[in-house]
Amino acid sequence: MTAARAFVMGHPIAHSRSPMLHGYWLRRYGIDGSYERLDIPPAELGAFFDRFREAGWIGGNVTVPHKVAVMERVDRIDDAARAIGAVNTLWWEDGRLVGGNTDAIGFIGNIDERVPGWSEGGGRAVVAGAGGATRAIVYGLLGRGLEVALCNRTVSKAQALADHFGRGVTAHGSAAIPGLLVDADLLVNATSLGMVGQPRLEIDLSPLKPSAVVYDIVYVPLETDLLKAARARGLRTVDGLGMLLHQAVEGFRHWFGRTPEITPELRRILVDDIRAKTPGA
Ligand code: ATR
Repeated sequence: MTAARAFVMGHPIAHSRSPMLHGYWLRRYGIDGSYERLDIPPAELGAFFDRFREAGWIGGNVTVPHKVAVMERVDRIDDAARAIGAVNTLWWEDGRLVGGNTDAIGFIGNIDERVPGWSEGGGRAVVAGAGGATRAIVYGLLGRGLEVALCNRTVSKAQALADHFGRGVTAHGSAAIPGLLVDADLLVNATSLGMVGQPRLEIDLSPLKPSAVVYDIVYVPLETDLLKAARARGLRTVDGLGMLLHQAVEGFRHWFGRTPEITPELRRILVDDIRAKTPGA
């Protein structure tokens, strides 16, 4: 039997940390398989899918800029990918190629691990940002029964997302954040602000209740200024690295038939890699 081959495809793809984490799990479980890094420019996407079956791929991850374009190349789109409007994971089911999205599971799985019981009784979330990542976050939060206030520099983008999701989601400009924080149980940074090389995210956390949780999806640096400020106030915090780890679990399970564990050793491998490539992270 030939080894099971999975991949991550994108353009560029050199920066992806997915091969590191799936490679760790393949070694840990002694699975005869591979997880390859594929640089596929947009012009070659069609040719890649034309040969998908004969190439023997068992599936893979899809990243920028292909997450929307691959939706037309699969046989079925799962509910999450349809609601989020993007595919990040491909796998076979009964001979059909499925395009799914595990980013919402990753987002929720991470906070479930870090703050057990956080969503009991629903609550209110304030989400800063209205880009690609926000769609998966909103889908995940609505699935847990939270009400979501989307706050974005460009209000029209927040409004478009609120219209897309409908009930339970409202749209606001960034200036509304302080007022919304008063009743919030969760604050999420889903913007690129706070990432190495980007401006800081300037949010005054003082209106938040002491029971509130602050979640930053940025993971380079591992502890952003927002999380530092939250920790200094005694608030519970969740970092973005866990989201990357948790979104990978479902893909690995589909391809290799085993639910992999997020071990402290795996987290350490990724942290070391981030620190090695980003001084000060
Ligand atoms: P992703 O796919 O990671 O969500 P994106 O789609 O580029 O990335 O979205 C980036 C988000 O960060 C957007 O919400 C963006 O706000 P705009 O919609 O107004 O562009 C937000 N963002 C980026 N730079 C920003 C800045 N300097 N100030 C405020 N918001 C910013």
